[in-house]
Amino acid sequence: MLTLEHVTAGYGNSQVLFGMQLQARDGEVVSMVGRNGMGKTTTVRTLMGMLPCRAGQIAVGGTPLNRLPPHVISRLGVGLVPEGRRVFGSLNVQENLVATARAVQGEGQARGHWSLGRVFALFPRLEERRRQSARTLSGGEQQMLAIGRALMTNPRLLVLDEATEGLAPLIRREIWQCLQTLKGEGLTILVVDKNLAEMAALVDRHHIVEKGRVVWTGSPAELAVQPELAQRYLGL
Ligand SMILES: Nc1ncnc2c1ncn2[C@@H]1O[C@H](COP(=O)(O)OP(=O)(O)OP(=O)(O)O)[C@@H](O)[C@H]1O
Ligand SMILES: [Mg+2]
Repeated sequence: MLTLEHVTAGYGNSQVLFGMQLQARDGEVVSMVGRNGMGKTTTVRTLMGMLPCRAGQIAVGGTPLNRLPPHVISRLGVGLVPEGRRVFGSLNVQENLVATARAVQGEGQARGHWSLGRVFALFPRLEERRRQSARTLSGGEQQMLAIGRALMTNPRLLVLDEATEGLAPLIRREIWQCLQTLKGEGLTILVVDKNLAEMAALVDRHHIVEKGRVVWTGSPAELAVQPELAQRYLGL
């Protein structure tokens, strides 16, 4: 479903990705983990077409993404929950959800069937607050809204960059449960997060990122029996 091969990218003169490699098969949940500044968000931005892929290959479902602009990548079925949970603060919950759905209409890609009703079933709190402006939501509710917005694009690949950062444990659990539900429905997910313990039940394969490349890949169980890896690369 998702393949990154030898991807090189950066900002101006500063190169950040040095041959990034990553794979997610259909229906798999894979992670990128690693210390601050190692290139996880840069990888996400490059995958989404927000930064040019200077070398290498990125493909989703066999379609090369190199050189495509973000809105086309979104229409091809890549849904992003960006770092820092961006929602339209001045719009209410329902308007936020409808706005992204509309953005991908007319492509004839009857892939999924995400609707307001399904997002509200997944996150009942959002339904209770459907007329409330997004800026008045709690951090956790804003994150749910950001996930709902990504789902409204009917993605076949959902990418989440630090979706649980700064959230209370109970809300984090709700987010992980939601992702588990989506995995159960066969969605392919790339998750960037720092909570290894909480990810263990969800993730099929971790990718440890160090200085713009993947230095180790394996299952949560394989990672758990090599504590020196987490110590060396994740500072745990
Ligand atoms: N807009 C930018 N312009 C220039 N350099 C940047 C920019 N954004 C990030 N960088 C640099 O790129 C490198 C990788 O950053 P990136 O945000 O990809 O790391 P990350 O792995 O997502 O870290 P974190 O865990 O803190 O989110 C860092 O050295 C960072 O300072
Ligand atoms: Mg980041």
